[in-house]
Amino acid sequence: MAPVITLYSLAAPEKSNLRADQPILANETILLAVQAIVSARLINILIGYSDPQQIFSLLPLFESGGVDFLVLHPRTVLQEYKGLADHGITTRVVQETGLPVIANGDVRTVEDGLRVLEQTKAAGLMLGRGAIADPLLFQRLRAGRPDQPERAARAAMLRHYLAGLLERYQGIFCGEQQILGKVKSVFATMDDPDFAKQIKGLKKARTIRQFADLVVQLT
Ligand SMILES: Cc1cc2nc3c(=O)[nH]c(=O)nc-3n(C[C@H](O)[C@H](O)[C@H](O)COP(=O)(O)O)c2cc1C
Repeated sequence: MAPVITLYSLAAPEKSNLRADQPILANETILLAVQAIVSARLINILIGYSDPQQIFSLLPLFESGGVDFLVLHPRTVLQEYKGLADHGITTRVVQETGLPVIANGDVRTVEDGLRVLEQTKAAGLMLGRGAIADPLLFQRLRAGRPDQPERAARAAMLRHYLAGLLERYQGIFCGEQQILGKVKSVFATMDDPDFAKQIKGLKKARTIRQFADLVVQLT
């Protein structure tokens, strides 16, 4: 798999990673970072710190820095998750760069995904919250099928997903509360009304054992 550079001061809207008064990296610093990591292949980025047009001044740096493709979430750092992802900007970026662009942001349904691909002519999609809320979304998007799978299939996918997450996080993080906290932060965006009761229960789990038992019972 291609190595990934995340330009975190531009890419991560989480407050824990970024103070609102933190200055943006100078474009030259970004170029140096891109060039220093010679194996860099992919840039995952927001469109700017406060200026949604900032991305356009960065494109030549990415092209000359040897980046292979760009994942674009068309919001600014200060915007965080507020408002809508502006895929009009994604469209312009696709038009203005020779780099393949992967469109990211607010794709929660097959219709959203197909519309963003059609509008932007992006080379592909990256899914975040939409895929956490609905792990079968990838499958339906690939098939171009908007139909919602049966509840039983969705429940099975959620069990598989949450059990896998719990298992993997136990290998990465230490201590019961940290592991549970990390797992819960991932599915905090899961807002499927059909599973609201189960998700509420999972959020209240105090131990890994309790969480794992609730996952098995999720139907
Ligand atoms: C649980 C979670 C963790 C994320 N972690 C990262 C991260 O480590 N680095 C990053 O650049 N973006 C991260 N993001 C942002 C996503 O990659 C994505 O750009 C953003 O959520 C917009 O896409 P969406 O509308 O499909 O969620 C994260 C998002 C979520 C929901």
